[in-house]
Amino acid sequence: MPVRDRIRELQPEIAAWRRDLHAHPELAFEEYRTSDFVAAKLEEFGLEVHRGLGRTGVVGVLRAGRGGNQAIGLRADMDALPIQEANEFAHRSTVPGKMHACGHDGHTAMLLGAAKYLAETRGFDGTVNFIFQPAEENEGGGREMVQDGLFERFPMAAVYGMHNWPGMPVGQIGAMPGAVMASMDNFEVAVRGLGTHAAMPHLGRDPVVAAANLVGTLQTVASRTIAPTDAVVVSVTQFHAGDTWNVIPQEVVLRGTVRTLSPQVQERMEPALKRICDGVALACGVEMTLAYHYGYPVTVNSETETRFSREVAGAVVGTDNVRMDLSPSMGGEDFAFMLKERPGCYVWVGNGPAEGGCMLHNPRYDFNDDAIPVGVGYWAELVERALPGR
Ligand code: NI
Repeated sequence: MPVRDRIRELQPEIAAWRRDLHAHPELAFEEYRTSDFVAAKLEEFGLEVHRGLGRTGVVGVLRAGRGGNQAIGLRADMDALPIQEANEFAHRSTVPGKMHACGHDGHTAMLLGAAKYLAETRGFDGTVNFIFQPAEENEGGGREMVQDGLFERFPMAAVYGMHNWPGMPVGQIGAMPGAVMASMDNFEVAVRGLGTHAAMPHLGRDPVVAAANLVGTLQTVASRTIAPTDAVVVSVTQFHAGDTWNVIPQEVVLRGTVRTLSPQVQERMEPALKRICDGVALACGVEMTLAYHYGYPVTVNSETETRFSREVAGAVVGTDNVRMDLSPSMGGEDFAFMLKERPGCYVWVGNGPAEGGCMLHNPRYDFNDDAIPVGVGYWAELVERALPGR
């Protein structure tokens, strides 16, 4: 694998940053120590540093060359998860109940590594915006940075992101065009009936039986409403009802999540859920109220930038190690908000075997430091090719 010598030299230093971040995880919009760490490093490398976008977000600006006015953005996420770490190694989380179980420690460290390398070598002509975003998990830190004027304050023609991918060997990069990550919406249904003695159900209106019907009938959205060739997931993940054996309760609350791979399918979901709630409610003689919350849009890679990302990846890991055969993930990703504003590509970087619990969001997960030269090498190659220096 032709990774540049200087990046190989920087690997232990970048791994040390990564382990420091791993030991000090912070949740959404609380990335105070992390953003201080990032800002201090960027300043040390000589970048112009901007803080406060998306509350705890950081943008580092690096200009080089002969005054070229082209600009691109590279993005990493910084937040951790509310999971108690089960690992025993020295760099394990020092914060009870919080851990970097999605590798955002690795993403942050690799983008910092790329900033350091590019600030040293300056082999490009134009502007690179290094975007460190908060709150990727559930809270939409990417959306907040966009709302705070990310693309107005830092003009850029395209924006690129990456995520480590357990189960894919280190040294492979996946770059697929089109939808790569799903839209992510949540819903809640309040089912109101009339509570009664469990032995005399005919004297009340049972919300439990109605809600149970609803759970089953919601599955007809995927099987009967949306085309079989379009991906959709409707999962009811919470069913709250009752307190004892012999009482039919007054109310049941259901909650769940909806995933799709196209904006057209996403916009059909709320009406489909509403129709089923109304119908089942009528059939069962109860009332149902649907609250549908739009979360993240579909993460869509643009054609041109994806082709470019593949060329870049091929130059770093060899064309045989560039994967184009991977199915999209039904997981959500808030880089989607940035890709709605600018063309770009979100790649998957192999993190090695997923055995032993090393899966994303598992208490035994750890980012693989062997992937650092691949990620940093990809960023460096991408900048030098997107903004050719000489
Ligand atoms: Ni993640």
